[in-house]
Amino acid sequence: MKIAIIGTGYVGLTTAVVLSYLNHDVAAVDKDESKLTLLHEGKSPIHEPGIQNLLEGVWHTIRFTPNVAEVVPESELILIAVGTPPKKNGEADTQHVEQAAREVAQVCLPNRHYTLVVKSTVPIGTNQRVVEVVEDVFSERGIRGNISVASNPEFLQEGLALQGAFYPDRIVVGANSDEAVDTLRRLYQPILEQTFDPPSEFPRPSAYHLPPMMTTDPNSAEMIKYAANSFLALKISFINEIAGLCEEVDADVTEVARGIGLDARIGHQFLRAGLGWGGSCYPKDTAALLGVAAQSGYTMPITEAARTVNFRQRARIVEKLQGTLGTLKGKTIGILGLAFKPNTDDVREAPALDIIRELLAEGAIVRAHDPIAIANARRALGGNDETDNNRLLFTEDIYELSYDTDALVLVTEWEPYHKLELRRLAKQMKTPILIDGRNVYSPEEAGAAGFHYIGVGRT
Ligand code: UGA
Repeated sequence: MKIAIIGTGYVGLTTAVVLSYLNHDVAAVDKDESKLTLLHEGKSPIHEPGIQNLLEGVWHTIRFTPNVAEVVPESELILIAVGTPPKKNGEADTQHVEQAAREVAQVCLPNRHYTLVVKSTVPIGTNQRVVEVVEDVFSERGIRGNISVASNPEFLQEGLALQGAFYPDRIVVGANSDEAVDTLRRLYQPILEQTFDPPSEFPRPSAYHLPPMMTTDPNSAEMIKYAANSFLALKISFINEIAGLCEEVDADVTEVARGIGLDARIGHQFLRAGLGWGGSCYPKDTAALLGVAAQSGYTMPITEAARTVNFRQRARIVEKLQGTLGTLKGKTIGILGLAFKPNTDDVREAPALDIIRELLAEGAIVRAHDPIAIANARRALGGNDETDNNRLLFTEDIYELSYDTDALVLVTEWEPYHKLELRRLAKQMKTPILIDGRNVYSPEEAGAAGFHYIGVGRT
């Protein structure tokens, strides 16, 4: 099928690469020249495990262009995967989605049928708005165009994006037209029926079942996306709330999570207590959902509480440092992990950024490490690695970072942080304090290596 994808961010590029791997004829549109330059050379502008290899296999078949007019007229299906950044009041800004829809309607041919699919995460009612935008352009052009609009929310997780794209739990389609549903069913047929040869890096999981394609109305599809993210966000916040109480009553939250997760109705996933959620999705989407509710005069106390608990986790880490070190003025704190989760260089809404800002505000000296996210964190925080009158220093060597520090804070559970030489670290620190924000180590293990250990939700 001939497809145009507008936007080459995490969602757009992953989708382009996967659909091209599945032998669709893909064109990808982006206005960002620096991204296009990389893509024209077969280089991925995003860090995502496996994407570079897969891109190298298909990039010569994908047409990358800044111009919708070059690719949309001949396409059967157009996917909008542009950003919906938060506005000042938390609502999602859909101007790029509407602009993309406008540009599509301006160049599509009057005598052809197109399916226009919104993959971006958008407030409820946006698909309807896109229909209006398209109709306005048609009336300006004085034509009777033929575009079916559909919602097809994306559920990929950063760091696991390709796995999720090849082997999704479900595909959700919200559409008012049978034609759009049929087109999307044909698009996803290789995934729905698992008829493709898996790429060597992404073998089909042995217990994987064919995914259902759920069809519904556009508003419900848009709501499914927000409700799914908000539910996952509140599941994490719930276990973090329990973790705080575990600390008060001398229980171990990892044991509690194991015990409640054994109940099939609850399940084990997303019950890892720690520093809570960051990234470009849960913070933005919970805020946007509250924004949608506010417009209707409706309140959502559960979603609000999930946010309060989440952001409190960051403050609690600083309080734990103060609890052991007293004042933080002049103290040197090592931060392990800047990305909002492992296997990504994404630092958007990352807990580490808030913690570092707070430590600097308290007068501490901060040394920070991350396997790949230092450049992005430096941009976000404005530190450098040369001047020492600047109290924020980035380093690529964990052991150099820990030398003479007053405490280490493990913020992101990157794989290399699971194998730290704890004894060596403890020996070279001024005071061997480990604040384990992700419960990577057990208190016993860290204690045996000489650390004063403080995790989340266990004493
Ligand atoms: C999330 C959803 O998982 C995806 O389904 C969705 O498509 C995506 O948002 C989106 O809307 O684009 P993502 O933000 O990439 O994906 O990452 P997650 O793996 O969900 O993790 C989010 C945050 O929750 C991370 O900061 C992670 O450290 C934290 N987390 C996760 C916990 O603190 N505890 C857990 O048990 C699980």
